[in-house]
Amino acid sequence: METLLDVAGLVKRFGGFAAVDGVSFEVAEGSIHAVIGPNGAGKSTLFRLLTGFHAPTAGTIRLAGRDIAGLAPHRIARLGLAQSFQITTVFPKLSVREQVAFALIAQSPTPWRMLGGLVRVLGDRGVMAEAETLLAEVGLAEVAERRAEALSHGDQRALDVALALATRPRLLLLDEPTAGMSPFETERMVAMIQRLAGARRLTVLFSEHDMDVVFSISERITVIHRGRVIAEGDAASVQADPEVAEVYLGSAA
Ligand SMILES: Nc1ncnc2c1ncn2[C@@H]1O[C@H](COP(=O)(O)OP(=O)(O)OP(=O)(O)O)[C@@H](O)[C@H]1O
Ligand SMILES: [Mg+2]
Repeated sequence: METLLDVAGLVKRFGGFAAVDGVSFEVAEGSIHAVIGPNGAGKSTLFRLLTGFHAPTAGTIRLAGRDIAGLAPHRIARLGLAQSFQITTVFPKLSVREQVAFALIAQSPTPWRMLGGLVRVLGDRGVMAEAETLLAEVGLAEVAERRAEALSHGDQRALDVALALATRPRLLLLDEPTAGMSPFETERMVAMIQRLAGARRLTVLFSEHDMDVVFSISERITVIHRGRVIAEGDAASVQADPEVAEVYLGSAA
């Protein structure tokens, strides 16, 4: 499989402290790849480096061969890397369908269509058809009329993913996608990630504390601890790794 993301020697220092301390790994195109590690390992900092919200102290980040390290977030997004953020409450009064339609329009090569405002957007059949497809993909078709603020936690997170997908990314980053979810909601999120990776040939890189989720859907797992990669492989090899076990048992104690 081809490499979509190639991270090499990535370092992020905050003052004298290296939160990410020489991280290298590759993500294969079309794969579901997890980054795991105890609290404070550096996962979210790593993701912020990938999305451009932090500038790296050192190292390279290649997306489809192009070095994106240090580029502004909107440029990285345009090159095909999207992260799902908890942003559905930014416009709490808009319906789910309206939010997705606006996200699609914002990405459109002809943003002049926005000039007509909401009415124009909602009258645009192409956009609305695309919005319906997206809503169905993330399992929100039935709640499309609802305001975002009235959604369950699980549905709000699904909407976050839909808004990220509206940018038509090649690589989707999810930082703890099942955090705070019930077992039922977690199961739905897992099924959605798998469906997206399968149907869209989307590459998914996610961090996660729920090991059942990690081991059930990840083709590859990178384990970080104190800003460094301590293990990498498939679920079986990571589960069998004594250093990984020690780090997790140590942090639980
Ligand atoms: N902006 C910052 N300034 C200083 N230190 C930071 C900053 N952001 C993160 N850190 C530190 O870097 C380390 C890694 O934090 P990070 O949030 O990346 O960990 P994490 O693996 O995402 O943890 P968790 O599993 O709890 O989400 C922590 O020690 C944290 O306190
Ligand atoms: Mg984190």
